[in-house]
Amino acid sequence: MNTDTRPSTSHGARAIAPSFDLVLFGGTGDLAMRKLLPALYRRFADGNVSADARIIGVARSSLSDMEYAARAETACRQHLGADFEDSVWAGFGPLLSYVRVDANATSDYQMLAARLAGRETVTRLFFLSTGPDLFAAICKELAAANIVNASSRIMLEKPLGEDALSAGRINDTVGAMVREQQIYRIDHYLGKETVQNLMALRFGNALFEPLWHRGQIKHVQITVAEQLGVEKRADFYDRTGALRDMVQNHLLQLLCILAMEPPATNAADAVRDEKLKVLRALRPIGDAEASTKTARGQYRAGNVGTTTTVGYLEEMGVDPTSQTETFVAIKAEIDTWRWAGVPFYLRTGKRLPQHVAEIVVTFDQVPHSIFTGRFNSDPPNRLVIRLQPDECITLRILAKSPGEAMRLKPVDLALNLGETFKARPLEAYERLLGDAIAGNLTLFMRRDEVEAAWNWIDPIRAAWDADDEGPRPYAAGSWGPAASSALIARDGYAWHDDL
Ligand code: BG6
Repeated sequence: MNTDTRPSTSHGARAIAPSFDLVLFGGTGDLAMRKLLPALYRRFADGNVSADARIIGVARSSLSDMEYAARAETACRQHLGADFEDSVWAGFGPLLSYVRVDANATSDYQMLAARLAGRETVTRLFFLSTGPDLFAAICKELAAANIVNASSRIMLEKPLGEDALSAGRINDTVGAMVREQQIYRIDHYLGKETVQNLMALRFGNALFEPLWHRGQIKHVQITVAEQLGVEKRADFYDRTGALRDMVQNHLLQLLCILAMEPPATNAADAVRDEKLKVLRALRPIGDAEASTKTARGQYRAGNVGTTTTVGYLEEMGVDPTSQTETFVAIKAEIDTWRWAGVPFYLRTGKRLPQHVAEIVVTFDQVPHSIFTGRFNSDPPNRLVIRLQPDECITLRILAKSPGEAMRLKPVDLALNLGETFKARPLEAYERLLGDAIAGNLTLFMRRDEVEAAWNWIDPIRAAWDADDEGPRPYAAGSWGPAASSALIARDGYAWHDDL
């Protein structure tokens, strides 16, 4: 008799889900409550979590299993909204339990060992969603308690260090305990459905690849704009800034997928090898180039949409003399045959006018226009890949506008993927947790990638630190400081939203 009461899935037939023990360090934290537990709930609701899987929250507070499950239920209700169903929770809630562990207290790990005992053959995952300063201690204690075995997986949440040196130390510590193939370094952008669509667009279609190089592409823009400010993360953010928080990982990963050579297969190392080559081919930006190839800003009070917001320096927990950047624009160049001479403009910031992540690929002019004299010189073709909030692919072409005269006008061929497929896209963490449970490393960063990204970021940070000027102010609700428009205008271009 089928006793599985879970609703049928919106993502196809129910597969036989493998059992697992997932240990969530930082189990009471913001990420666990806001993203990880709701993602696990959704996987369960979709039939992708086995009924004997266990999710073990771990943190410093003293909580019973019931109290932890109650907190998780409140968070899931809040974050899943109308998707939360009591009947699903009745099946999911009992998978949760809790162990109190102070990351630095050796004896506490015995409690965890006891909880895990007897399930040595089940896939065991340790998700470290604590600050990176605790990674080393946790790894050391897990190894000492002998609860990491050859099939265990360690999931590491970003930030992975604050520079190449600290990232190297974290990687050494974790690497001393488990093999590289057991380490799942998260960049949640890689888990976004839309980022994988970028791979589908490039490598599933014959159309784009012949155009995908310096001969046909003039420039590329990658924008990740947020309306949110620093929220309740001032302590972390003020030490980190937009360069380390967003560019080192999310924007560079997007750049890699956009610019990499076609991998031979979709296997983890085939993809990661190609991304690594892009990172290693990035032209360094040091003291001499930083002033022309980078712009940084810090938001002041302003209006984001209809909301009036305070400036960064007035945010709770921020040092009122802080020089931390909340906006970055960078001209990146990739020194390869494919991309020599094609600028990749990267831009990200908080308190910008829109919440949007977008890639804009601008193609070259036609080699010779038979319509000379009648049209402006803007390049006619542009591919806009919008990753969020709504997933859209738009190709701008010139078409004749109706009437007697031969007048060409830009028009958009637009594809809204949400409307087309009419299916709920998987949330990033849903996919990443699923892939880690299944042992698929393709969407996780390899050690050498992380370190190569830091190696490119570190000289930019050092150049900024050596420069007294600090970030330029910009009004909340604007597209960053004037220096950002100036950076791209120096090459004769403009940001996409300025056109
Ligand atoms: C995180 C950053 O990695 O990504 C945050 O630490 C940022 O500062 C967030 O807000 C943006 O992610 P998303 O998925 O909302 O675009």
